[in-house]
Amino acid sequence: MMMNSNMSEIANQVTLLEAKNLVKHYSVSQGLFKPKATARALDGVSFTLQPGKTLAVVGESGCGKSTLARQITMIEPPTGGELWMDGANIADADHATLKRVRPLVQMVFQNPYASLNPRKKVGQMLEEPLIINTALNSSERADKARAMMAKVGLRPEHYGRYPHMFSGGQRQRVAIARALMLDPKVIVADEPVSALDVSIQAQVLNLLMDLQQASGVAYLFISHNLSVVEHIADDVLVMYLGKTVEHGNKQQVFSRPLHPYTRALLASTPRIDPAQRQQKMMLPGELPSPLAPPPGCSFNNRCPHAIERCRQEVPLLREFDGSLVACHRVEEIQ
Ligand SMILES: Nc1ncnc2c1ncn2[C@@H]1O[C@H](COP(=O)(O)OP(=O)(O)OP(=O)(O)O)[C@@H](O)[C@H]1O
Ligand SMILES: [Mg+2]
Repeated sequence: MMMNSNMSEIANQVTLLEAKNLVKHYSVSQGLFKPKATARALDGVSFTLQPGKTLAVVGESGCGKSTLARQITMIEPPTGGELWMDGANIADADHATLKRVRPLVQMVFQNPYASLNPRKKVGQMLEEPLIINTALNSSERADKARAMMAKVGLRPEHYGRYPHMFSGGQRQRVAIARALMLDPKVIVADEPVSALDVSIQAQVLNLLMDLQQASGVAYLFISHNLSVVEHIADDVLVMYLGKTVEHGNKQQVFSRPLHPYTRALLASTPRIDPAQRQQKMMLPGELPSPLAPPPGCSFNNRCPHAIERCRQEVPLLREFDGSLVACHRVEEIQ
């Protein structure tokens, strides 16, 4: 008995996917005769993902969330760092390895209107990945598609319908079903409920959580909105200008945010529980361009606690109070 529970504990801690210091720089044209500039869209992000767990990645528009999603889903190769999945470093894997590992990570996009092919019926869309990746025959594929439709709360008659015949919430159910068809180990969901009515958002979030419980799939859940991730996340990673500024357990991040940026994000997020509401703190200024991040701490020009050191020295991500935080002054500002 004792051994069994120990073993299951160890199994629960198995790492599915690990990003180590992941970097993505884009070369950006500044106009004719001008030298190209470098956009540091993703500037050294690390994390691990465990089966059945959800890591939420949050931050303002332009902080690099979708760039991270494109690296994890292997849509484009990173400029630097390592990305370990199923025993392989995807960041410099050969074609055969990528072909093997790619189906293990699937993506759900923000906009189900754009991500679903308007000319294909639901059944066809769900069966497509099976044609490419499995040896199932057509009736086996149809059975699998119908079973998946039931799991995501679509009705049998939806099988022969086109995307335009659905509501936004139903369309996102189709997108989720399609992402699950190959039994992936990881789903990267980039703002999966941001385009939906608030009343529908909770239904889709609940569906994602139910599916995770049933299948053990891990989520990298991306959102600019902290209130959306409050229920679904196990861990939260807060990004600012391509870097991690805080990374910790959800309860900890929500009840005791450490980084001034996380505090500002939380303060601008509507909370249901009045006891959890914080004093309103507005962030002055705009997110700087990733072409020209400020020297020192990238957040220094908007931070109420910034001192000279913050304008000169880049703060390293370090452990504090059980979380990881990148702030020179974290001890003093608690
Ligand atoms: N292909 C590209 N070429 C040049 N710059 C890019 C490219 N893709 C992204 N960027 C830049 O990288 C930065 C991060 O973009 P990204 O789309 O990852 O942000 P995001 O956090 O997903 O934002 P949003 O919340 O608006 O979706 C932005 O400044 C963006 O302009
Ligand atoms: Mg994005």
